[in-house]
Amino acid sequence: MRILRCDSLDDWAEHLAHLLISRLQVTPSLRLCLPTGVTPVPVYDRISDAVRAGRVSFRQSEVFLLDEFGGVAPDDPGRCDRMLSRFLLDRIDLPPDGFHRFTLDGDIDGECRAFERLIGSGCDLTLLGIGTNGHVGMNEPGSSADSLTRRVDLAPETTAATARYFDHDRLPTWGVTQGIGTIRRSGEVWLLAAGAGKAAIVDRIVNGPVTVDVPATLLRNHPSALLVVDRDASAV
Ligand code: F6R
Repeated sequence: MRILRCDSLDDWAEHLAHLLISRLQVTPSLRLCLPTGVTPVPVYDRISDAVRAGRVSFRQSEVFLLDEFGGVAPDDPGRCDRMLSRFLLDRIDLPPDGFHRFTLDGDIDGECRAFERLIGSGCDLTLLGIGTNGHVGMNEPGSSADSLTRRVDLAPETTAATARYFDHDRLPTWGVTQGIGTIRRSGEVWLLAAGAGKAAIVDRIVNGPVTVDVPATLLRNHPSALLVVDRDASAV
């Protein structure tokens, strides 16, 4: 895994946006897996600006949602698809049928299998945030390296951390997520971490053993894994 350390949050977001814009310029039909959460928001802001300025386009690309909360109303602003739309998709030129997300109102296992088929041999590029317990997507500790898209229970600390996404206290306890195996099929995997709150887990991902107890470590030996951290996230 390559590691890129940036001096400030601004540099970090600029760098990531620049990298992603370059990938899209080289491969306009890029198949991208994108996360939600707080971490990627400054990157998404810069990407939206670049689309508005005509520097890059998503017209030919596809976006696969990384994960989705279960038991949450379809119009809840805290849903992952709603967050990604608000922070990025509503501000770029991706055609509506280029966005692949989870509906979760029917046969969930069937939907997960269909999502796997849609991803097929893998996305070209997957962006990931990191939970403080090392989760990626909703692959909590204990998730295996070959896990696929599936329904999962959230760790109690993950449910608690979702409070910042919702404007009510009916927090999700489960969800569906692309598996570690699904993510490992991606041509490139970029792990994003910013802020002092991620420093301890970044240290474990970089210096600790590869273990299912810290799912992000299962991506360390991916041939094109890149960890991009700001100064605060790399300051243990
Ligand atoms: C979101 C996701 C989660 C978050 C992680 C970090 O789609 O898959 O794994 O990336 O919980 O969340 P933030 O970025 O809010 O700290």
